[in-house]
Amino acid sequence: MKKILAALDQGTTSSRAVIFTEDGEIIAAFNKEFPQHYPKPGWVEHDPKDILNSQITALREAVRLSGVNAADIAAIGITNQRETTFLWDRNTGECVGNAIVWQCRRTSQIVDRLVADGCGDMIREKTGLVPDAYFSGTKLKWLLDYYNLRDRAEKGELCFGTVDSFLCWNLLEGRPHVTDATNAGRTMLFNLHTQDWDDDLLKLLDIPKACLPRVVDTAGMIGMLDPAILGRAIPVTAMAGDQHASLFGQACLKTGDIKNTYGTGCFMLMNTGDKPVMSEHGLLTTMAWRIDGKPTYALEGSVFMGGATIQWLRDELKIIENAAETEGIAQSIQSTGGVYLVPAFTGLGAPWWDMYSRGTLIGMTRGTGRAHIVRAALEAIAYQSADLMDAMIADCGSRPESLQVDGGASANSFLMQFQADITGIPVIRPRVLETTALGAALLAGLGAGIYSSLEETTKVWQKDLEFTPRMDDATRLLNLKGWHEAVKRSLLWAKD
Ligand code: G3P
Repeated sequence: MKKILAALDQGTTSSRAVIFTEDGEIIAAFNKEFPQHYPKPGWVEHDPKDILNSQITALREAVRLSGVNAADIAAIGITNQRETTFLWDRNTGECVGNAIVWQCRRTSQIVDRLVADGCGDMIREKTGLVPDAYFSGTKLKWLLDYYNLRDRAEKGELCFGTVDSFLCWNLLEGRPHVTDATNAGRTMLFNLHTQDWDDDLLKLLDIPKACLPRVVDTAGMIGMLDPAILGRAIPVTAMAGDQHASLFGQACLKTGDIKNTYGTGCFMLMNTGDKPVMSEHGLLTTMAWRIDGKPTYALEGSVFMGGATIQWLRDELKIIENAAETEGIAQSIQSTGGVYLVPAFTGLGAPWWDMYSRGTLIGMTRGTGRAHIVRAALEAIAYQSADLMDAMIADCGSRPESLQVDGGASANSFLMQFQADITGIPVIRPRVLETTALGAALLAGLGAGIYSSLEETTKVWQKDLEFTPRMDDATRLLNLKGWHEAVKRSLLWAKD
């Protein structure tokens, strides 16, 4: 009988669970959305109870739909939105306030001060990250300052964690306080070279070590699922930030392999092997995964507004009813007619790193209508990803042969064709678009010894469609020029 693997995929807007066979077939999946909170402009929060309850519901429902007996699930892998910061009481489990979401800009000024004090290079060298409010370190500092909790943290009464830690603590027997190396690498507190928390960085942000989780490998035994959840204790044998899991699920195991995930944001990662490559073009150096204590590294570019741009069209502008219809709307016109949307609603990530840029819609005429704005929104996702690709090429000195894509919006064929056109590189869509969950399941299978080697997990990956570039160079360059002009106009808008 084929082994069964389960993945918990805790994302920014929903919690998901997927049940797989060991050869990567999806048996069942369940998705549970939860509310987003925006207490002030630029602030984003999640209620920890929503995260936990939606994830438990998703798991129970996925198992129910699959018809699989919980006792037959060989292993569980956890994957998650990264950087989102939780602080909770070690005795009661009660969280201190809401979780501060990765998109939240409330700590921009803390970061400005660090940079003004000349700490930027030290942060970059140790963590591989560009100092930014995106990462957990300043969010944790904010919580400790705001609630005046440093003494309690010092005494070990509080636990800090990203979503992976929070889920492990709440869902596993014995409440382990752990995080994996890929998630730790996104805190701005973790030293990529020593593979441990960094005392200088902790001092810089005044963070007591006693509140930090233990860092474990991405694959390997972490603990047993609390039997109260599915009626069985099931081994949890992998934990990885979602982008790292999807790199694994895309079988990008060789140096130079590259993928882009179109989720809430877009995240392009290139496997750089066993050495961290320091970017000179605004990319992040990050973990790909750590297995048997051996780190594999990646270069990463993050776009904050990917699929979330389409949600904005639906929920705020209300000019579409669902994401799926954007493909037809965009194809109903030949071009945007010179309209560009820069979706810098929460600032811009790589390669711009501007916490103060804001959304900009530019180039409109009397003839501009709904279709132009919808198409401009889709094109913006591709332009932002093309900027990441250019930075990767500049850092590595060579053009990748192809770009592997996944995530919700990669189902949009207009977007994928435009992505191939604007990068001039073939775009490859795999059969399973749920590569994040798949990666977590494969890592769990590896951690549980179901696969005997990393290579064995790659057999699961299969190509579905390839989008070949069709745009001529002159049009491509002209489009990119317009895009970069539009970006320039959005920069520093919210800086006082
Ligand atoms: O770094 C944030 C990222 O991990 C969030 O991913 O899939 O929730 O957009 P997603």
